[in-house]
Order: sequence, then C-alpha cells, then structure tokens
Amino acid sequence: MLSAGRALSVHTAAARLPRSGQNPIPEIKLTTPTRKPIRLARRIREIQISPTLAVMNRAQKLAAKGIDVVDFGPGEPDFRTPRSISEAGKRAIDEGNTKYTNVLGTTALRSAIADRYKSRYGAHVAMENVIAGSGGKQELFNLMLALVSDGEEVIIPAPYWVSFPDQVAFAGGIPVFAKTEAAEGFRPRLDQIEAVATDRTRGVILNSPSNPTGAVIEEDELRRIVEWCAAREAFLVFDETYEFFVYDGHHHASAMQWFNDHPETVVAVNSMSKTFAMTGWRLGYAVGHRDIISAIGKIQSHSTSNPSSISQAAAVEAFHGHDDDVHRMYEAYCERREWLVPAINAIPGISCSAPDGAFYIFPSVSALFRGNVHDSTSFANFLLDEARVAVVPGTAFGGEGHVRISYATSMDRLREGVARMAAAVKKL
Ligand SMILES: Cc1ncc(COP(=O)(O)O)c(C=O)c1O
Repeated sequence: MLSAGRALSVHTAAARLPRSGQNPIPEIKLTTPTRKPIRLARRIREIQISPTLAVMNRAQKLAAKGIDVVDFGPGEPDFRTPRSISEAGKRAIDEGNTKYTNVLGTTALRSAIADRYKSRYGAHVAMENVIAGSGGKQELFNLMLALVSDGEEVIIPAPYWVSFPDQVAFAGGIPVFAKTEAAEGFRPRLDQIEAVATDRTRGVILNSPSNPTGAVIEEDELRRIVEWCAAREAFLVFDETYEFFVYDGHHHASAMQWFNDHPETVVAVNSMSKTFAMTGWRLGYAVGHRDIISAIGKIQSHSTSNPSSISQAAAVEAFHGHDDDVHRMYEAYCERREWLVPAINAIPGISCSAPDGAFYIFPSVSALFRGNVHDSTSFANFLLDEARVAVVPGTAFGGEGHVRISYATSMDRLREGVARMAAAVKKL
C-alpha cells in the first residue's frame, strides 16, 4: 500500500511522442523507495507485458532524444481523420451533444451500424444487436468476460493479434493456438482448429484480414468454421477491423454472412480506427445475438459506460458517404504494398509472401539469426541499434522468426527504412 505523502509520479515522456500507435507503457516510479512490494491481484500476474511494447518504448526513447528513427511499428493509419468526420465531432461539442448517452451507444449510431451489416451481409440485425464501445478492443475484452468461464479454452489461429490471448486469460480462460502456415499465407483452416479442439473448447477467435500477417480467410473455409462452431455450440468471435483493406483480387468474407442461420454462434467485432483513420476517437462495436449484446452491455455499464458522445456523432457522419475517403487510403496502401514486398524480398535473408490484406507485412528473418541475434526480439533490437529502424518482433504475435512491418507510413519513410535495413543486415 502507498502511505500518505508518498506520491506516484508517472513519467509519460514517451507517451507524449507523436504517432506512437503502440500505447506506450508509462514508466511508474515511486518518489521514495518502497519498503514492501505492492500486493497485486492474481489476475494481473496472468497478463503479459508485450515484448512489442518493450522494443517500441526503446524506439520512442531514441526518438525523444532527437534521433531519427524510421518507425515501422505503428498499427495505425498515417492519415488524418477525414475533415467532415472531424467537423461532425466539433459540431457535437458546439451543439452541447456532450452528455452521457445510452450505455450501448446512441440510437443513430447503433441503427447506422445495423443498416451497414444488413446491406453488406444481409444479416437480420437491428440496433438491439449492436453495442458501441471505446474501441474494438473494449468489445473484444467484454466479449471474453461475457462468454468465457474459468478453465474454458478458446482457440486462436497463430500468428495472432497481441491482445487476444491475454484477454482470454484475463477472463479466466485458456488460449489454445492453432498454428497456420507461412507457405499458405497464414490463412487459417478448419482442420488446424479441429486439431487443437477438446471438450473444453468454448469458442474460436478469428481475425480477417489479420494483424499481423495480413491473411484473409477463404470464404468456404470460413463457412465451414462457422458451421463447426455452431454444431459444437461454440462461439465464433470474428474480428474484421481491417475489412476494407484487401488486395490483389482477394475478397473479404465476413462470418456475419451466416449470422441468420447461426445467430447464437457468430459475433462480429469492428472498429472505426483503421477504416476511417479514427484511432484516437476510440470507437468500436460488436454485432451479434441480442442476449450477447445485452450481456456485454451489462459489463460496459459497470466499467466505461457509453463511448464518447462526440466520437459517436463523428462515427454516424463516417457511415454516411465516406467511401471515397476510405478508397483514397486503400489506394495509398496498395501502392506502398506493391513497392514494399519486392523491396523487402530483395534483402538477402528476409522473405515474405504478399499479404492479402490489412497494412502489415510479416516477413521471416530467421535466416539472419547468428551470434547475439538469435530471435525476433534480438533482431528487432539489432535493427534499432544499427539502422534506427523500429519493427515489431514476431514473438509478440506467436510468430517467432518473423517481424511485423507496418506500411501505414509514407513512401519516403518506407524507402528510407528499407535502405537502412538492407545496409544493417550486411553486418550480420
Ligand atoms: C486485429 C485488431 N483488432 C482490434 C483492434 C482494436 O482496435 P480499436 O480498439 O482501436 O478499435 C486492433 C487494433 O490494432 C487490431 O489490430
């Protein structure tokens, strides 16, 4: 326990850096030494601090010293939120639209989301099937708390987005990984999921397009997984945060296409963050069975309550006619991806296939491991020291031997970063 007068000082120098994109962890230092270790709850010990953040925090410290680091870490668009969406947020403030809303979100927003799922996927959903929260991350977290009981297993294809396993563990569940193959572009298959299923399996989390691999699941495979989950009375949480960023003729299939047949099974999670470059507005949502939605609404009512009324007003505007803005961002990602994939493959020892979607590549770097550079974390540290280039170690995503490179950055920075990487790896 902290005694009176022993203040906590939170050093957030790194947090003030522009475009961190990785939620830097504030360094917490006690102003006087502690006599006893702080007694923390068991659940906090179950959660890992991601190695992603450790490398990213180092990169941010270097940048804070004025060192020019090419940052391939951020998982956020480098574009500004489209102007008229921001204007809608400003209008909400000016018009006094700054009060609590319904815990699950405003009628206008929830109806707009339901309409979108009706028209995109033919799903029979209304606003009762929708909850808006402070980010897709929050709704994923709420879903695990609502659906997973102690000791139940949740299958997650690996490589996976960093928060999935910890969210399952926090809820008392056990994350179980279904390994996907680099040679198949990391696209998940039903047989990989079946291979790790047990009688304790409670559900599956799928993310397509995937962060970090960019894999987009095949439509037939997805249908089979939905049916398999339904037959076992398992849930399928389907995270389609990157739904609009799919390339080379690949097609985004959503598990919501089968919602009408399996409403107890499928829950979609989505976000304003990537589609509309709205990461800082903190707005995401879930769409599913109304009993699941009201269960997670109960959790939300005792934690954050409604997401920001201002962000909700901006999101309603986003859903009305901003396809051109999304397309403009999509075209920029296409151009960068087309340049980046061959440029990275031209560096001896680094190889990757062209990812189907999202805005990441996930190349293998294990052919370069030698001496002190023996895994993805030491490789990322080496790149930071030798090239002043920040990448995210694959181990954070259950993909050791790889690193994640985000191309949500300008062509100039991509060229600079790749040139530095090519020069640095010659020293290995
Ligand atoms: C796969 C995936 N799901 C969910 C999220 C959460 O996004 P947000 O909380 O910003 O809506 C992210 C963000 O990086 C992501 O990559």
